[in-house]
Amino acid sequence: MNLTTKQADEYIGAKATDGRRPKYHLAPPVGWMNDPNGLTYYRGAYHLFYQYHPYDTLWGPMHWGHARSEDLLSFEPLPVALAPDGEEEDGCFSGGAVVRGDELVLLYTRHYEREGFKRQVQCKAVSRDGVRFTKERGVCIDTAGLPEGASRTDFRDPNPVRIGDRYFIFVGSKNERDEGQILVFESSDLSNFTYFTTIFDKRFGVMAECPDFFTLGGKDVLILSAIALPREGDKFRNVSACVYAVGKFDLEQKRFDIEYLDEIDGGYDFYAPQTLLDGRGRRVMMAWLQIWGEKYFLHEKGFDWNGSMTAPRVLSLKGGRLCQQPIDELKNYYGAEIDYFDGATVTKVQDAEFVLSEGASVRFENPALSQEYFELGVRDKTLYFDGSALPGEKKECRRVCGVDGDCVSVRLLLDSYSAEAFVGGGEHTFTAAVFMGGDRYRVRMSGGAYAARAHEITVRTEETV
Ligand code: FRU
Repeated sequence: MNLTTKQADEYIGAKATDGRRPKYHLAPPVGWMNDPNGLTYYRGAYHLFYQYHPYDTLWGPMHWGHARSEDLLSFEPLPVALAPDGEEEDGCFSGGAVVRGDELVLLYTRHYEREGFKRQVQCKAVSRDGVRFTKERGVCIDTAGLPEGASRTDFRDPNPVRIGDRYFIFVGSKNERDEGQILVFESSDLSNFTYFTTIFDKRFGVMAECPDFFTLGGKDVLILSAIALPREGDKFRNVSACVYAVGKFDLEQKRFDIEYLDEIDGGYDFYAPQTLLDGRGRRVMMAWLQIWGEKYFLHEKGFDWNGSMTAPRVLSLKGGRLCQQPIDELKNYYGAEIDYFDGATVTKVQDAEFVLSEGASVRFENPALSQEYFELGVRDKTLYFDGSALPGEKKECRRVCGVDGDCVSVRLLLDSYSAEAFVGGGEHTFTAAVFMGGDRYRVRMSGGAYAARAHEITVRTEETV
């Protein structure tokens, strides 16, 4: 394809940005966004790339959009980093970044698809300033060196990680029985790559996408997105699920021993998470705040952007389970405190903490249309999130988790088009894209629900470079 970054930047620059946007969640200037890519901390700033189709609010030839941030909450849009401009390149699919000396190195999937023939290989682009990227000619990891049975067509989303003095690249794959697996490659210089091992588990779906490997609290953690993972009770209810596996990646034995595996987020809209290690040693995760196979509401309503990222979440392990908490810097954006009572109308952009006991609920209604709402509550010792009355596609009321004690505390991050719930110490999270008219909610509180604290989040300004 001959779509260039220059052409994309000119197109974006000529478009007026839609004022109806999330306030502290990253969304594209115009066009479509899906997976976060190359999340990294480079030269004192966070860099976040994303799967991007500037020319439409639906998925199309994939570019890498790019934004830089001091705190992952205010973003400075940067020029498009990658465009599908190669002869055998119909899309620059997802991938990761790694810092090598003073360079920022991106690994991405070159996707080629013509007349029923599909091929995916891993390629590289390098930058010395974190703004302009030069693709290296040639292919880093070709399908030729793949182990037997590994798909030649579904082989994508490289995640380069430095362990000791070696680089390991985790890549999404599936085997000949349509079972997801992760292929690991090894490199000493990011120029020559050799196959290292395969990580397999039957809970990796029919194809494992977007792997991300890291160490946390003395354990190794592998997260990935598993296509069509069958539902298990309350788990894995979306078309594809994001899972984390905690265990040990044994370099000698060349195996990843999984001690525990679970879903990352139980909500309707959460996919393709990636992490980075920041300058303070925190492991921070962000994901696409949407999912495949939906009717995309913003597209249908004629917005000129579609898709956003979740809020940045700091990860920890408690008793071997992954916990997520909103990044602390959010507090720097706190505005006025919000007074919660039954019937109050409140801003859509806020950080609030609720205490809910059996029979309690808090509902957020469209003030102009009270049949449109979402609700959080506790019933039968279960915390639920009910999105069934949200406009758009029908959502089921879902169990978030069981409630053991007398009550449960839920922190809710709200932005213009989303709700993210963090339960207790972040052992459970629930992410939902939320589309309702207006910029305020009417709150309905019942059964003794109360807000322990709530702050409006102040609006940021965006600057274009
Ligand atoms: C996951 C994914 C990746 C792929 C990208 C294409 O959402 O399907 O596997 O690289 O999206 O945009």
